[in-house]
Amino acid sequence: MGGYRISRRSVLAAGLAGGALVSVGGAPALAGKPGGGGGGAAAGHPLPVPAPVAADGLTLTARRTAVDLGGGRTGSALTYNAGCPGPTIEVQSGSTPTITVTNGLDEPTTVHWHGLVVPTDVDGQPHEAFPAGTRRAYTLPVQQRASLNFYHPHPHLRTAAQVALGLQGALIVRDAEEAALGLPAGRFEVPLVIRDANIDKQGTLTYNGRASGFLGGVPLVNGVLNPYLRVDRAHYRFRVVNAANSRVFRLAFSDGRPMTLVGTDGGLLEHAVDLSEITLGNAERLDLVLDLRGLTAPVQLVDRDSGWTLLDLRPTQADVSQTAPVLGRQLSVVERLVGPAQPSRTFSFDGMTAINGVRYQMGATSFQVQRGQVERWRFVANGNPPHPVHIHGASFQLVGRTGGRGQLFPWEGGWKDTFLLLDKESVDILIRFDLVGRYLIHCHKLEHEDAGMMLDFEVVEGGSSPMVAGTADGAHGDHGDHG
Ligand code: C2O
Ligand code: CU
Repeated sequence: MGGYRISRRSVLAAGLAGGALVSVGGAPALAGKPGGGGGGAAAGHPLPVPAPVAADGLTLTARRTAVDLGGGRTGSALTYNAGCPGPTIEVQSGSTPTITVTNGLDEPTTVHWHGLVVPTDVDGQPHEAFPAGTRRAYTLPVQQRASLNFYHPHPHLRTAAQVALGLQGALIVRDAEEAALGLPAGRFEVPLVIRDANIDKQGTLTYNGRASGFLGGVPLVNGVLNPYLRVDRAHYRFRVVNAANSRVFRLAFSDGRPMTLVGTDGGLLEHAVDLSEITLGNAERLDLVLDLRGLTAPVQLVDRDSGWTLLDLRPTQADVSQTAPVLGRQLSVVERLVGPAQPSRTFSFDGMTAINGVRYQMGATSFQVQRGQVERWRFVANGNPPHPVHIHGASFQLVGRTGGRGQLFPWEGGWKDTFLLLDKESVDILIRFDLVGRYLIHCHKLEHEDAGMMLDFEVVEGGSSPMVAGTADGAHGDHGDHG
């Protein structure tokens, strides 16, 4: 908790230092409409950027606390360590930190480390929910590459409400490969936890989800309305997570400037790609580098679907000495999964409540997968899309989309753990599980997840097992290419 307060202070200090260099007078013309309810477009609130805290030894306390969401009132939300979002957690690849979660809510909760590939018993799954007033230690062997992940509750039937009421936070994995690239760091690396929200007159987060999904009336970025960030003439690295329950964002800059995409859910891409617009489904992440050296007037990060301004970037006009990142060369080596040409399993996301006609039942294992074997899985939407598809226990690679948008997009490259499935689409992935244990497939539209659009499966050592009827494509149930 102390760390969070200190970081808020240092944000203020950084803001003052920036402001001292040049007076930023005059109201910038905004292209989009202001996102929040209160405050004019040119006013706004400094974007909170909590300094990262080390994972090992961290205690996260989930409870209701006072928050100032930037609407001029102090209301309340469910928070981790009094933050909404909670602290940005940082962890080195190869380390095994222990994080203790204290449940100060009035109902059970559990924390899932979305994007981390960790053993079942620390994956924060619904059956691991622990009661109000108790605590749970998670020892997390972090073996994966550098990446932006996030943490959030995962108790069955209550995930959507707990997340919407404020429980979420960013989790960054670091490694040597990424460090060697010299990407913008320190105050030039900015996590952006983007979501929508409903806020009542007291300034308190409220939740009224419906089966089709929750759509809040205002955006929050790092927990505030109408945020602005003072930026120097420099490169910035924005690490973006769509932390909304249901809302898909179509991100762009108000002046159409390119965003350089260097990574997705599971870390760096092999090559950077410049994009003027990115569709970001729930729980998907982006690693973006922005060249703001020439910025002379404010520019806004916007959501083209809602028309919201998400973040106002206000130039300080300060030049900083910074080594420009070299993005024109190969950034990383992404192991290319090689697998069967035909899917061994098909998952139909049916309506708002089921996968392959089956609703989630805690403890029911729908099928088994062999550890270490690359499988090709197919996902189809059967009503009520979009469905952001998420799989626990492994990262995967998208290999094709037919129907609907009919193509894969650059932001779907590299290692993924979540992707967007729209109407009439069929998406194939290649996936390999390296850990045995029980994991989940579910829709990350949290209202669909809570309503039962979720399955348990088991990764096993050794021979493959037949699938339970109705949970996968029976015609291809037995995949025969293991040795
Ligand atoms: Cu981010 Cu199973 O969820
Ligand atoms: Cu869904």
